[in-house]
Amino acid sequence: MMSFSLCQRWYSHKTFLQCFEATKPILDFIQRSLVLLYQSAIEPILRMLLIFSRKNRQAETCLRWVKETSGAYLNLEWVMFIREFIRSPRTIGAIYPSSGKLARCMAEEVIVNENDLVVELGAGTGRVTEALLRRGLPPDRLIVVERSHELAATLRKRFPLVDVIEGDAADLLLLLRGYNVDDIQYVVSGLPFRTLLPSAADAITKQVVQLMNDNARFIQFTYSLHNRQPGCFADFRLIRSLIVWPNIPPACVNVFIKGD
Ligand SMILES: C[S@@+](CC[C@H](N)C(=O)[O-])C[C@H]1O[C@@H](n2cnc3c(N)ncnc32)[C@H](O)[C@@H]1O
Repeated sequence: MMSFSLCQRWYSHKTFLQCFEATKPILDFIQRSLVLLYQSAIEPILRMLLIFSRKNRQAETCLRWVKETSGAYLNLEWVMFIREFIRSPRTIGAIYPSSGKLARCMAEEVIVNENDLVVELGAGTGRVTEALLRRGLPPDRLIVVERSHELAATLRKRFPLVDVIEGDAADLLLLLRGYNVDDIQYVVSGLPFRTLLPSAADAITKQVVQLMNDNARFIQFTYSLHNRQPGCFADFRLIRSLIVWPNIPPACVNVFIKGD
């Protein structure tokens, strides 16, 4: 009886995915049209309004928010994210991409130095990647590791100057062979440690620790707002924590160094 209901659930999940896949060409067409509309009409208007609103700080903040949010919505980035979530809920571990505010808070923990390398794990649709580049990190000092084929392809298109590695962070040392890992000063991660299999989470954190020198920082966000870390963080010491409310759901940016 139980195996029958499991089969039924698996079958309906598969059918749902197939329906979702079938809508891909239509979604792609809508996406291209919306992006065109956004780039040719909405963005220039918002940019002009932003210039005129410089003297009014509240209006400027509000317009900046509208610009960021409408850009992300019209890009249908969230549709791709939700599609990936339905395909693999455990590895995506979130129902929605991080907000601009959360991405900025992660990026602000990075002090840009042109000799340092920054490794981003689980970049998704690239919200944090974008915030890191906006912070002034040279694209050739950023290495992104993303497991999903579709998301990695999108990241490559969006950030052609960044090294995007399609692969599993559980093979991190292998994936980073050929890079000067001594230069790694920050590992910035959106990996969903709480939903990953414990063995996978352990394998990843063990390798992150090996990559980090004593001054390096591991920046991770989590949806758990009380500071209880999963077991795989045993080799790290939390040095700073910041709750970011404007996110779905609210999240906490944690900064770790090596050491227990
Ligand atoms: C919660 S999403 C975060 C996405 C993005 N950083 C953001 O803030 O919107 C987690 C991302 O980690 C990726 N991921 C999960 N497990 C991974 C693994 N073992 N190696 C590399 N990427 C992984 C997923 O494909 C997904 O894009």
